[in-house]
Amino acid sequence: MVSPVFYQFDRLIILDQTLLPGEEKYIYLETKEDVWQAIKKLQVRGAPAIGVAAAYGVYVAIKDTPAYSFFDIARELHNTCMYLATSRPTAVNLVWALNRMEKRVFEIGEEVDKTLPWEQQEKFIKDQLLEEAHKIRQEDIDACKAMGEHGLSLLEKGMGILTHCNAGTLATAMYGTCLAPIHLGQERGYDFKVYADETRPLLQGARLTSWELAKSGVDVTLICDNMASTVMKQGKIQAVVVGCDRMAANGDGANKIGTGGVAILAKEYGIPFYMYVPTSTIDLDTATGDDIVIEERDGREISEMWYDKPMAPDGVKTYNPAFDVTDHKYITAVITEKGIVYPPYSENLKKLFE
Ligand code: MRU
Repeated sequence: MVSPVFYQFDRLIILDQTLLPGEEKYIYLETKEDVWQAIKKLQVRGAPAIGVAAAYGVYVAIKDTPAYSFFDIARELHNTCMYLATSRPTAVNLVWALNRMEKRVFEIGEEVDKTLPWEQQEKFIKDQLLEEAHKIRQEDIDACKAMGEHGLSLLEKGMGILTHCNAGTLATAMYGTCLAPIHLGQERGYDFKVYADETRPLLQGARLTSWELAKSGVDVTLICDNMASTVMKQGKIQAVVVGCDRMAANGDGANKIGTGGVAILAKEYGIPFYMYVPTSTIDLDTATGDDIVIEERDGREISEMWYDKPMAPDGVKTYNPAFDVTDHKYITAVITEKGIVYPPYSENLKKLFE
């Protein structure tokens, strides 16, 4: 199975997702500016994958920066975290991973043997930071595996499943969040029929989900976003599975624009709507979905990006929010790596952290 972000041969490597499905190309990110651009341009995307890339991005920034004391490293690390945090606002995994790196550097500052020559201390500190980034990546892989098992327990063989955007292996370190049970089901003969919303305007469903699932041999059918109610009404869908970029303390969940509409449709047709949310995506400091900052992207993604010539009059006004918030009342269950959470979410989500 592909991994979209990893560190090998002393280099940060990502799969450039803007080139999929046409080209499977891995690129090196050599500086913090490369990492910022790659996140902004969605070369690496999906909440957990962004977090992993950012953690490695911190290491990339400090590894070759000359440092003459612990505080030189801590200062560069802090500046890098502040900078990378500005790349995209909605997915909380970004700041979650940056905060973890920042907290870790001070622990390492306590652990380092100060009687050693500075060069050895410096190596120890930098090596430990790389270890922390590896740990964040490995924890994501483990969380996805666990969500796969929990999620599969809610699904039955032969089910029709609708998904929106890409919360698969491409959006994580590996396996995916809401696509993990589908990959697992494929290995275990569940014979799911998956419907992938194309997911305008950036087509993560068409370009990424259908590519990823077809590669795993899953029976996947691509539909336009406005066909979701039709396939539901026709009885083709028995469950909806989606990812999440930030879940507020009351269970409202921000995910790719269009998710909220799918959730409302699912409720109307009596179809369970499952949101897959690793604990790194739960933000108890955000009270409700109204407090989540929604990224707004360039309107040309709507008017001309995928066309040979512009498909809207020159200068037309556009509005391009990248995410929406699904109200908790539409979410049947939240699948985390620690287990399945049911309403009332304002009581039950916080128990995950006790
Ligand atoms: O703009 P993107 O492609 O980064 O948006 C991704 C999503 O909305 C995913 O569903 C979400 O990050 C969850 S990924 C496991």
